[in-house]
Amino acid sequence: MNKDSKKLSIYKSFTNSKKYSIKWSSYFQVYEKILSDYKNKKIKFVEIGVANGGSLFMWKKYFGNKAKIIGIDLNPNAKKLEKNGFKIYIGNQSDKKFWDYFYKNEGKVDIILDDGGHKNLQQISTVHHSLPYIKDGGKIIVEDTGTSYVKKEFNNPSKYSFINYAKNVVDNIHRRSPLLKKKLNFYSKKIFLVEFFESIVVFSIDSRKCFENKEVANRAQNEWAIDYRHNEYFRELKTKFDKKYGLLNKRSFFRRIIRKIFYRNFIFNLLDNIKIKKILRDLDK
Ligand SMILES: C[S@@+](CC[C@H](N)C(=O)[O-])C[C@H]1O[C@@H](n2cnc3c(N)ncnc32)[C@H](O)[C@@H]1O
Repeated sequence: MNKDSKKLSIYKSFTNSKKYSIKWSSYFQVYEKILSDYKNKKIKFVEIGVANGGSLFMWKKYFGNKAKIIGIDLNPNAKKLEKNGFKIYIGNQSDKKFWDYFYKNEGKVDIILDDGGHKNLQQISTVHHSLPYIKDGGKIIVEDTGTSYVKKEFNNPSKYSFINYAKNVVDNIHRRSPLLKKKLNFYSKKIFLVEFFESIVVFSIDSRKCFENKEVANRAQNEWAIDYRHNEYFRELKTKFDKKYGLLNKRSFFRRIIRKIFYRNFIFNLLDNIKIKKILRDLDK
């Protein structure tokens, strides 16, 4: 753990919690980055996975007395923590009926953090069933997403891992781009931002910001710089051959043909892809 993390107020709240809790050392810097705006606000904060209650005390200390801290656990013993001022629900995070009951009782919440069972269906169900009930400006945070890469107990990596689901959410928020020519769905209408940290994924919810994207132009007129997107290989060739043979001179017929070929040619996609493959191979090292 780095020195700066140890100075964070969330870390102090963690170490001073009166009940036992375990969190990964990198999480505190992430918590501070994504949660500090909610301190001392009247929020409803929900954590799935209560265990001994240590993290509930940490959240209470961190967010302050105006925050309502709610815990969810499958273990009925967690209910005991109600005497410490927390609201506790006993239920299964993979069960839609539990979520229907929970949100019927609680109404919309600001933040839900999943530190429950960490299995694919558990994490995915939490996000999917909670999404309609997160207030604009709120967040869904899923912890320990490293389990998406772990075989033992979690049967991953798999097509159905939580991380693959989260990548699918990324695909879905792009429905807001007219380039996809797809209708907005319930994810693209609510999820404004997806952030991937090491072992934490954060979905920021804000339906006000999730509108269909459209091109807008400023008022300056009749200016249009040529986009050189497809000119890379053409430029390479030009510098090689032009000086020597003059074939690619401005008005040359040959130049026009070459340009056409360079614009839409699978060979150049292929060349791009070979370079991308090399980058991806380097990444794997
Ligand atoms: C890692 S512990 C939580 C630790 C706690 N948040 C802390 O920091 O001290 C995970 C908890 O999730 C609960 N859990 C496991 N599967 C669950 C499920 N399907 N629904 C609800 N809670 C579940 C377990 O009973 C356990 O108490």
